Amino acid sequence: MNPLTNPTASGVDNVLIYIFGSSLLLLAGITIVMIWFVIRYRRSKNPEPTSDVEGNLWLEITWTVLPTLIVLTMFWYGWVNYLGLRDVPEGAFEVRATGRMWSWQFEYENGRTSSKLYVPAGKPIKVILNSTDVLHSFFMPAFRIKRDTVPGIETYVWFQAPEVGSYDIFCTEYCGTGHADMITSAEILSPEEFTAWYSEKTTAQTVPRGRQLLEEQGCLGCHSFDGSSSIAPTFGKLKGVKREISTEGQKKEITIDTDYLRRAIRTPEVDLVEGFPPIMPAYGDEISESDLDEIINYLLEGDTGPVLDGNKLLEENGCFGCHSTDGSALVGPSFKGLKDRTTEVKRDGTELQLKVDADYLRRAIRQPNKEIVEDYPAIMPAANHLSDEEIDAIIKTLLKGADQQ
Ligand code: CUA
Repeated sequence: MNPLTNPTASGVDNVLIYIFGSSLLLLAGITIVMIWFVIRYRRSKNPEPTSDVEGNLWLEITWTVLPTLIVLTMFWYGWVNYLGLRDVPEGAFEVRATGRMWSWQFEYENGRTSSKLYVPAGKPIKVILNSTDVLHSFFMPAFRIKRDTVPGIETYVWFQAPEVGSYDIFCTEYCGTGHADMITSAEILSPEEFTAWYSEKTTAQTVPRGRQLLEEQGCLGCHSFDGSSSIAPTFGKLKGVKREISTEGQKKEITIDTDYLRRAIRTPEVDLVEGFPPIMPAYGDEISESDLDEIINYLLEGDTGPVLDGNKLLEENGCFGCHSTDGSALVGPSFKGLKDRTTEVKRDGTELQLKVDADYLRRAIRQPNKEIVEDYPAIMPAANHLSDEEIDAIIKTLLKGADQQ
């Protein structure tokens, strides 16, 4: 392998080849001499001892100095390459990896998080390692890097991928029941693909469709949300607002509602808003009825904040590491058919039958160790880092049926 394209792997491989190779040479040399001596000096050919050699200074020096040198070169070569594993090249791209029972989470400098490690090819990557609970160990065999993650201490590894590909990441420190499930992958993307992925909106957030359409159709070129535009009426606070319009020269006051907005988009030349030039183009076939509904809904209901994607939150937070979506029991109960399921739990030592609903799920996520589901170990970490909105989105998804991609 070209030492410049996968530096960590080639460094480790070269040391391994050197140590293994010299050991093999010594083994072969010693074995050959031994066998030769056994044949050459066998008793049938030499019934009486014939040699009376007292010693040989040069032989002694040779077999002391030579192995010492070999061992020292092994140390030196190993040390140099070990430093190569520890010295991160300048300008490395940094990603934080957090190990926890039993999944990995990756966090990028712009705040994006993911359950797989996404990085660009051809660039040194520094992975800063941490753990929220017990010892785990971050292992990427293809790059020959392995490092423990220790709660409270930051460790790191670095690597550089020569080309696009997908490589395994394991946990290689036994960390409990789900240890074997702590598998994920490093997805090496081309620099362009990576830039696109990296600059996507935070994974769990999606822009409402109506807003997206307003942007796509160029509406925001003329309309503002804060009333700052002078060429077109504002989009801010439209619901129930009264507005002066003139229809065929007749002035009248209307209340903004669905019908008005529909006319204003499909046939803007009919009702003209007072104080603005009649320049709005009519939107006919380029906006479908359903898209129009989305736009109107968005204009009337306003910006209700980003929509959180519960599935992505479940994935990013590693929930699928312990909970299946197909009904099979992993370390934790399955997410399949949660709605209206009755579950047996133990609260303060008392057994209870509870119906799974939003309140129950909220408690199960916020304080998982208060009510322990029968037949499962009490190991779920409390999700203190999630906001109320995120928990709401997760609960909504769980009741609807989570779907692991
Ligand atoms: Cu984490 Cu083994």
